[in-house]
Amino acid sequence: MTAFGDPREGVRRERLAYAAPPAGEVLVKVRTAGAGYPDAMMAAGAFPLLGAPPFGLGEEVCGDVVAVGPGSRFAVGDRILGITAFLRGWGGYAEYAYVRDGSAIRVPSPLTDEQAGGFPIAYRTAYAGLVERAGLTAGEQVVVLGGAGSSGVAAIQLAKALGATVTAVAGSPEKLEFARSVGADQAVSYRGTDLEKEIREATGGHGADLIFDVVGGETAGIAVKTLARHGRIAIVGFASGVPVTLDPVDMLLRNYTAVGVLADAHTPAGEEAAWGRLAALAEEGKLATPVGTVWSFDDVPAMIAQQTTPPPGKSVVRVAS
Ligand SMILES: NC(=O)c1ccc[n+]([C@@H]2O[C@H](COP(=O)([O-])OP(=O)(O)OC[C@H]3O[C@@H](n4cnc5c(N)ncnc54)[C@H](OP(=O)(O)O)[C@@H]3O)[C@@H](O)[C@H]2O)c1
Repeated sequence: MTAFGDPREGVRRERLAYAAPPAGEVLVKVRTAGAGYPDAMMAAGAFPLLGAPPFGLGEEVCGDVVAVGPGSRFAVGDRILGITAFLRGWGGYAEYAYVRDGSAIRVPSPLTDEQAGGFPIAYRTAYAGLVERAGLTAGEQVVVLGGAGSSGVAAIQLAKALGATVTAVAGSPEKLEFARSVGADQAVSYRGTDLEKEIREATGGHGADLIFDVVGGETAGIAVKTLARHGRIAIVGFASGVPVTLDPVDMLLRNYTAVGVLADAHTPAGEEAAWGRLAALAEEGKLATPVGTVWSFDDVPAMIAQQTTPPPGKSVVRVAS
């Protein structure tokens, strides 16, 4: 990315030299890389954790390890999936990528390259929101906003795998059907409906024990009204453009909690636990990226541009066979 703005203008292909990976990272030859809403935010200059261009886009990859930093858990030749060093400017839409050692796993056997490349960010985010921050327990009613989006789909599958009942919220009939197809027990629309009533009915009158919120704005504000006592809202993002507005007095009177979610356990042991659990669930076939469009490397700028309003299914670029 050479300048903030439309990625079809700001993205340029360049030839770079890759130094040996530092401690805490490995270098992979990229097979596939997953796209997401944060790509669009980064291109627009709206991503809070990144400075000015130039930088490489692409948060997540599947690839083969070609070099390891000191003390790595991985060996040359391992096929891994993980989060790239995009925060220091080295992204995954490239022939080679640095991957954070602690945010990577060997690819679970059921996953294809495309599923693996689109796995890390969404499922790690879902785990952070549902498990680490909001303490999901089996039997709870989970409401997933943005339920046909990248993080939402992962949250649906993870919540189901952990024994919850899941209501997805999405816009179009196509997206509602998609949310059901990936495992949601119910799917309700926020467009032209009484969303509060829809959620109450879908949860059998109980309301939400846990809201996974990647949307914010009006939709999240309405969903909050359905929170049951001791409910939680996990604030993950604001795809609507604005974060949810909360009223502390309402929180007090109805005994609910809001937690902020950044998908990072901040300790090596915490990261290892999160990735170990995700790997085990994927190995059991309970988590699998629903791949949508597979793009060619030349089409990366168009793929990024589409991430503001992506169709159902994860966009992945195939870099090398
Ligand atoms: N905290 C973290 O660590 C973390 C990690 C990853 C992502 N995020 C954030 O999470 C957010 C979503 O990311 P994502 O990758 O899941 O994006 P995504 O795949 O684009 O999904 C977002 C979904 O939000 C829905 N949406 C958009 N505007 C809406 C509105 N006004 N009301 C209701 N739904 C709306 C869209 O569905 P419809 O077409 O059905 O409206 C879309 O499917 C972003 O803000 C991203 O930055 C945070």
